[in-house]
Amino acid sequence: MLMNRIETAAVNSPARRALQRFYEVPALMKLAGGPLAPGAWAVEIGCGSGFGTRMILDHFGAAKVDALDLDAAMVAKARRRLADRPGRVRLEVGDATDLKAAFGAEDGTYDAAFDFAIIHHIPDWRSAVAEIARVLKPGGVFVFDEVTAHALARPTYRRLFDHPEHDRFTAREFLAELPRHGLAVTGAFTRISGDYLLGTARKRAANRG
Ligand SMILES: C[S@@+](CC[C@H](N)C(=O)[O-])C[C@H]1O[C@@H](n2cnc3c(N)ncnc32)[C@H](O)[C@@H]1O
Repeated sequence: MLMNRIETAAVNSPARRALQRFYEVPALMKLAGGPLAPGAWAVEIGCGSGFGTRMILDHFGAAKVDALDLDAAMVAKARRRLADRPGRVRLEVGDATDLKAAFGAEDGTYDAAFDFAIIHHIPDWRSAVAEIARVLKPGGVFVFDEVTAHALARPTYRRLFDHPEHDRFTAREFLAELPRHGLAVTGAFTRISGDYLLGTARKRAANRG
């Protein structure tokens, strides 16, 4: 589900960028146990204007990133932002629930997958989790920063932004979904009374489900 104009402005505001750059990314990096291994290939779902993609390259140390977003205008912005990284970023308009269509991603392709506040925009959010689990290599890391049902129920969110109305997840429900897809949670915490969930999970070896 696309963002409305107010959310687009809020997400791309300097305040949000500062929060992401100076708080969320360091916190997620700590949960992930540090930068990615040299040569890591990452996928980012819902990349928006590509700010997070830059963080994945510059701070998490990915060698290459495949990044996609449903919104063609956001992908156009991301292409401009990342024009100085030829050969290291593939950007596509596409759906997070079908990474094969966007990138031809086979099972077990990526070392890392990033979700910077996008899965709560997907009506069938469990399909997005399943798709991330499918494309991660065994041992690959899923890094997530999510907005929960608790936040979406707040008057500001309800009045200003558009989000799927049904099957929203709490932090507990999101964390409970991951092992169903072979993703073992390795660290997570919530902030602002459960409004936001930050965490990491690792894809288990195939024979351990
Ligand atoms: C809250 S924004 C976050 C954008 C970016 N990750 C950031 O942190 O700035 C959510 C993004 O998810 C995208 N999106 C929503 N549903 C999607 C889907 N099914 N597949 C891919 N992107 C999607 C929206 O277009 C929007 O850019």
